Amino acid sequence: MIKNEIVSSFLKKYKNKPILVKAPGRVNFIGEHTDYNMGYVLPASIEKGIYFAAQKNENLKINIETFLTQPEQISFNLNGAHQAFHAFWGNYFKAIIEILLEENYTLIGFDCVFGGDIPIGAGLSSSAALCCGFIHTLAAVSDTPISKEKIAVIAQKAEHKIGLNCGLMDQYAVLFGKKGNALFLDCRNLTHEYVPIKLKGFSWVLINSNIKHNLAIDSEYNKRRYSCELVVSQVSKFRKNVSSLRDVSLVDLETIKKQVSTTDYKRAKYVLDENARVLKMMEALRQDNAQEVGNILLKGHWAMSTEFKITIRELDLLVSTGQKLDGILGSRMMGGGFGGCTINLMKTELMDATIKAILSSYKKETGIEAASYQLRIDDGVRTLGA
Ligand code: GLA
Repeated sequence: MIKNEIVSSFLKKYKNKPILVKAPGRVNFIGEHTDYNMGYVLPASIEKGIYFAAQKNENLKINIETFLTQPEQISFNLNGAHQAFHAFWGNYFKAIIEILLEENYTLIGFDCVFGGDIPIGAGLSSSAALCCGFIHTLAAVSDTPISKEKIAVIAQKAEHKIGLNCGLMDQYAVLFGKKGNALFLDCRNLTHEYVPIKLKGFSWVLINSNIKHNLAIDSEYNKRRYSCELVVSQVSKFRKNVSSLRDVSLVDLETIKKQVSTTDYKRAKYVLDENARVLKMMEALRQDNAQEVGNILLKGHWAMSTEFKITIRELDLLVSTGQKLDGILGSRMMGGGFGGCTINLMKTELMDATIKAILSSYKKETGIEAASYQLRIDDGVRTLGA
């Protein structure tokens, strides 16, 4: 078990018994690119995640080590100064330490070993798990409680520093997730409620296209955000108190249609439609209407493909292959776009055969081995004990 490996590598290197923190990844049932538009999202935290073993030290340094992708150790002084490093995760921790210092948090020295089983760049929010888990760990070893709401905002700021102008969906899912439930989050006032995921006789399966993305480097994500903001600025010229697409109606959108490019119009229209899909999905889940859940997934996917244009050929292929199979009610790409996983609602009795059929057809068409994971919804970031 990965968590035992993390604890034993910590104990091998340091003498103190560590605390152990788990930060899960997340899936998203529906509501893509709606979070930074102050809309609705419906994610959930998952069993796969990142484990942090950590304990205070006496040497006034934050020493962090991992075997996540390749072994690397980075040490930060308590004033934020650090040695040179190559690891991608070092940039996130560097950003977090800088933000904490800017906000006058007092840092203490601690040792930390982390690692996990969440695939990186697969649309499962490994970076939100990394950031939220690290901040939670730092707060726990320093006996300085930081609220989940505050952790979410610090983790989001770290993403912004690195270059992804993301919303707060991933951080809220990772922090507030609850076993067996989806988290319905209203990104305007940041209130949430839980929606039990039941659907007896059906299973949720993730299929990883194994096309990795790096949204922070690929500016396509930020371009979508910019389009949405542009449309909001046009609408706010003739309507007061409009500060996000959440305040914009379909009628408003028609009114400014000629003032913006077709691309910007389509992107904004997609966001309005996607918000409506989140509400429909809540209804369908509450009514245990698997057929309708499947239809909404498919509508969401094809809107991301043709309107918002954030899917890629391989992901469209996974979804269209599923549409031809009896065992799948619907599927869609998840996350920021351009790679990663699809989430699929499958008939449990046909699940194994269906997964096999999808993976082999994908291999035949693309030459790529995809991977599948059955979804298990677990609790959000927490200290597991020693
Ligand atoms: C990424 C971002 C989130 C959200 C999704 C798309 O995961 O980090 O804030 O915008 O993409 O829904």
